[in-house]
Amino acid sequence: MPRILLLFAHPALERSRVHRKLIERIPRRDGITFQDLYERYPDFNVNVRKEQELLLLSDLVLLQHPFYWYSTPALLKQWQDLVLEHGWAYGTAGTALRGKRMANVLSTGGGAEAYRRDGFNRHTIREFLAPIEQTASLCGMEFLPPYLIQGTHRMTEADIEEAARAYSKMLEALLDDRVDLQAWRSAPSLDAIRPKTEPAGARS
Ligand SMILES: Cc1cc2nc3c(=O)[nH]c(=O)nc-3n(C[C@H](O)[C@H](O)[C@H](O)COP(=O)(O)O)c2cc1C
Repeated sequence: MPRILLLFAHPALERSRVHRKLIERIPRRDGITFQDLYERYPDFNVNVRKEQELLLLSDLVLLQHPFYWYSTPALLKQWQDLVLEHGWAYGTAGTALRGKRMANVLSTGGGAEAYRRDGFNRHTIREFLAPIEQTASLCGMEFLPPYLIQGTHRMTEADIEEAARAYSKMLEALLDDRVDLQAWRSAPSLDAIRPKTEPAGARS
């Protein structure tokens, strides 16, 4: 079972419609560690050793956040700047993260059609994520296609409930090793993949 570290960054959770529901549905199971960065570090004073410890204990790092100005909220950048130290995460002696995997779980106000070369935002989500992709690569991590929730401005409460249910199921599938890695690698996004079904009676 892959150990998942879910790094969550939302600076205004009290005003959130989408992520508030998503995080309510995160499976409370062994194998998944939920770290709410804005709750832990409201003053941006990231505990580097603690964060490095959490990374060492994980196989898959999920960065969950709303898309803010085509990027992550600021604290997730601060986390990268402080935690991914030279000699630890990268550089000749920096091998701590090698072989681990990383992906974003992100929501966008704009719809999927706005994130095409010929669309309103002129770039794909994957293109906007290039700095994180290269950061992961420099650290010897495999960067995988993101899990996307798009068009949030137009989502009804029922749509959000449904998105939260689907996300929860995907996290369960990841924990149970029911997501085909090759399929994930070649898919446009993780949410587009159908995990293998659970063996009957395996879980309630
Ligand atoms: C400061 C800020 C910047 C944003 N930038 C973008 C953006 O670049 N692209 C986009 O599609 N949506 C953008 N949005 C919309 C958010 O991504 C969207 O409201 C969020 O994903 C919804 O999740 P929530 O209900 O949990 O906040 C932005 C919102 C804010 C507040």
